[in-house]
Amino acid sequence: RSRLPIIAIDGPAGAGKSTVARQVAQKLGLLYLDTGAMYRAITWLALQQGIDPQDQVAMAELMPTCQIQLSSLENDTESPNPWPTRVWVNQQEVTQAIRSEVVTKQVSAVAAQPIVRETLLKQQQQYGEKGGIVMEGRDIGTHVFPQAELKVFLTASVHERARRRQLDLKAQNQPPVDLEALERAIYERDRQDSSRQVAPLQKAPDAVEVQTDGLSIAAVIAKIVSLYQARLAG
Ligand code: CDP
Ligand code: CDP
Repeated sequence: RSRLPIIAIDGPAGAGKSTVARQVAQKLGLLYLDTGAMYRAITWLALQQGIDPQDQVAMAELMPTCQIQLSSLENDTESPNPWPTRVWVNQQEVTQAIRSEVVTKQVSAVAAQPIVRETLLKQQQQYGEKGGIVMEGRDIGTHVFPQAELKVFLTASVHERARRRQLDLKAQNQPPVDLEALERAIYERDRQDSSRQVAPLQKAPDAVEVQTDGLSIAAVIAKIVSLYQARLAG
């Protein structure tokens, strides 16, 4: 093998990808990349500039002007994977801003644009070119790194994912949102991500599906680490 191993973690919104991927990376001494943060960063910039995410021409012009930096890729041995991943767009920190409700609502439309996907795909492949990374998103196992040593498809029911999101909001002292509204928002984002033409959310045929309803974060991490060790040994 000419590079270090890659772990690809894909799945729908709120399945636990970011939480689990980061800790798996930490345990195994690998880098961690949240590719969703990149799609969110572009969405933030488009909204900032008053660009309609559906406007293909404007989005194509925007792409070369958008420079994204992620703290989790700075190879700092003291803390290889700081949490949350800090994100900058053209030197401006957008760590909090990319998690806003407006960005969350628009991100699937941005991520459906072929020019956006083409640009980010290349950047993600470059970041992972030497391997030694846990990459998390929607299309890592299917498009970004179809050769990944381990592919995990992380899922949970819509109800469970909405409940987790509700707990997240509570932990952040945000105003309470009704569980059904959260379920609808999650369902709608999954629908958009699964039905787009380019690189839709889909389980790779050779991915291991991990259903996380009723599983603790620690249990999910342990499961992925053991799958990885079995893969490398085998
Ligand atoms: O963390 P959360 O589940 O809310 O979503 P995310 O991972 O931050 O991803 C935000 C959005 O980016 C997704 O809903 C997709 O539309 C898009 N995305 C994508 O299309 N491909 C990826 N590899 C990662 C994210
Ligand atoms: O990245 P993604 O949208 O897939 O999910 P996340 O933001 O990592 O996780 C959503 C929430 O579910 C976080 O608050 C996690 O602590 C929680 N959670 C989990 O990730 N896994 C479990 N087995 C149980 C809860």
